[in-house]
Parts: sequence; C-alpha cells; structure tokens
Amino acid sequence: HDLSRFNTLGLPCVAERFAAPTSVEALQELLWMAGKQEWPLTVLGEGSNLILPEWLKGLVVRPILDEWRLEESKGRVLVHAGAGVNWHTLVMELARRGLWGIENLALIPGSCGAAPIQNIGAYGVELCETLEAVHLLHVEDGREAVLPSRACAFGYRDSVFKRELDGRVVITRLVMRLSRISRPRLDYGDLATHVDAHPTALQVAEAVCTIRRAKLPDPALLGNAGSFFKNPLVSLEAAERLLRDYPQLPHFPQPDGRVKLAAGWLIDRCGLKGWRQGHFGVHERQALVLVHFGGGSAAELLAFAESVAGQVAERFGVDLEREPRLAG
Ligand code: EPU
Repeated sequence: HDLSRFNTLGLPCVAERFAAPTSVEALQELLWMAGKQEWPLTVLGEGSNLILPEWLKGLVVRPILDEWRLEESKGRVLVHAGAGVNWHTLVMELARRGLWGIENLALIPGSCGAAPIQNIGAYGVELCETLEAVHLLHVEDGREAVLPSRACAFGYRDSVFKRELDGRVVITRLVMRLSRISRPRLDYGDLATHVDAHPTALQVAEAVCTIRRAKLPDPALLGNAGSFFKNPLVSLEAAERLLRDYPQLPHFPQPDGRVKLAAGWLIDRCGLKGWRQGHFGVHERQALVLVHFGGGSAAELLAFAESVAGQVAERFGVDLEREPRLAG
C-alpha cells in the first residue's frame, strides 16, 4: 500500500498492510489480529508530524473515527472528538460557535488523535490547557481505557504517548473543556496587532491563520512537517552567555528556571534560510521548517537535518532535537 500521499513530507513509503477502520470495534479487531499474527503496528493520523521509511513492515492503521459532539451543562462545555477528526476544521467550527480555548491552535495540520502525542502548541497556548481526557485502546489486548489529562505527563512537545505508552496504545477520542466566556490569549509575538481590542474567538483563529500562512509552507504545495526541531531549552547560565554575544536572540524564560531559545533564529543566523541540498531545503521564510522538493528519501532528509543541527551546534554550542517522529 502506497503511503506517499499519507504523509505531509511526501516521502515515498510502501506499507506491507494497511487498514482504515471506521469504528472502535473494527479497530479493536485489527489490534487482536496484529497481536495474533505478530505484525508490527504503526498508527497513522494525517501523517503531518511523521518521517516514514521506504518500507513499513507489518500493519499500518489509520483510524477514521470522524465524529464529534458537544456536551453542555451548567456553563460547562465539553467537546468529544474522534481521533480521525481533522484538527483545524474542528478548531474553526468551535470558534465560529463562540467557544474559547483552542482558537490559537488554528491551522495546525493533522488529526485530533495525533494532537496529544506531541501536545500541540502555538501562539502561547498548548493543547494540555483544555484537554480533560484521552480515550484509548491498549494494543496488547484491545481493552479500552480513559486517561485523565493529569496522567498524560504533558510538557513542551511531549507526553506519556511519546514515552511509556509509545507504541502501546491507540488514541480513539479527545475530550476538551472549552468556555463561552471571552478570554483572548494574545501575548505571543505580534498576534495582538492582528485583531482589535475585543476580538471574537473566530477573529483570533483567523488572525492565527493569516500569520501562519505568511511564513509556513502549505504541505499540499511543498512537502514539510512543520517545525523540524524543537526549540531548545538551555540553562540560565548558557542563555546569559549566548545573550552577551547575541543580544537579539529571542528567548523565553520557563517556570523551571531554564530558558527556551528560538531554534529558527539560530538556524537563520547560521545563514541557512533557503539553503538547499539535493531534494531537501531550509524553508525560505521560516528556518525551523525543512522542506522536501520531491524525489528524496527519509535517509536523505535525516542526513540533511543532521547537517543543519551540526552547524547550529558548532556556532552556538546548542543541540537541536528532532520534532517529527520516525515511523517503523
Ligand atoms: N525566527 C527567525 N528566523 C526564522 C524563524 C524564526 O529569526 O527563520 C525568530 C522569529 O523572528 C521569532 C522567533 O524566532 O522572534 C520565534 O519564531 P516563530 O514565532 O515563528 O515561532 P517558532 O519558535 O519558530 C514555534 C513552534 C511552532 C508554532 C510557533 C508559534 C516549535 C518547535 N515550533 O515556532 O509550531 O507555530 O512557535 O507559536 O515549538 C510546529 O510545531 O510544527 C510549529 C509550526
């Protein structure tokens, strides 16, 4: 089964077996079968944060659980969203209904089921702030479970799904708590300048779309997986040392005392914006995004990324960590 259209980087990939179950029961049966046959399992959402190898052994499952509903009582608004619901479509629909909480996360590619894995975040907001619970199936026996948000070990682009539960569960549904009370979050970057003083949730979502469209490449036109590296967290001393030499370096002090640096700025400062080698390049408007011009492979991409990270390490002494996940 050809997966080259199922990953936004557009990498060539053939899966040994592929299934797209449309119910939790059908997904459960696939998990039992994969267990019995000892097929390695890969779960695919929309493939927007994934690096696929050319050959994927075993079974690839793409859950098409695309229903969502609101549960509202006594001022409490919960959204239940199936893992296969497109994230951005849901964000816009909820913002249109005047619900606050995830409007800053507009235009993030991918499915709802993938969102908690890396705790998607943008423009000063992270998914974990509104997430109540994650429904899932255990791969080993197909049993259902509900994980409350506090058990998900959320961090910056991090969660239990990347660690202890990696490869052991399949997310089937998210439950998020939203609010009808206006609470715009406009402190990140120049977001505030894109809306008026009392914006609606929809206006905030649209402003985020405008900003993103201006610098992030559309995966439908140019292969990419969004930010290819995480923004590095360094000690206060390391940050102060760098800031003495580079006072313009964007930096964000964290609650734990460390300082988050803008990886895009570091790559940009190495003169790499728009740099191309073979089939891959550094995006010309946002240096944190690596792009695929077509015809390349995962191995070539990883080598290119290593070369970018190597130049940043050499110049600034800062190590960059990869953000998209490797399948297989
Ligand atoms: N910058 C440069 N040159 C560049 C890119 C960035 O100088 O080529 C500077 C910007 O001027 C700014 C700072 O670096 O001062 C931060 O840039 P930006 O606001 O574009 O955000 P980012 O740190 O590069 C992160 C997320 C994005 C998210 C934005 C907005 C990560 C790994 N990336 O990028 O998430 O949309 O903030 O909140 O945390 C993603 O994860 O795929 C993603 C796109």
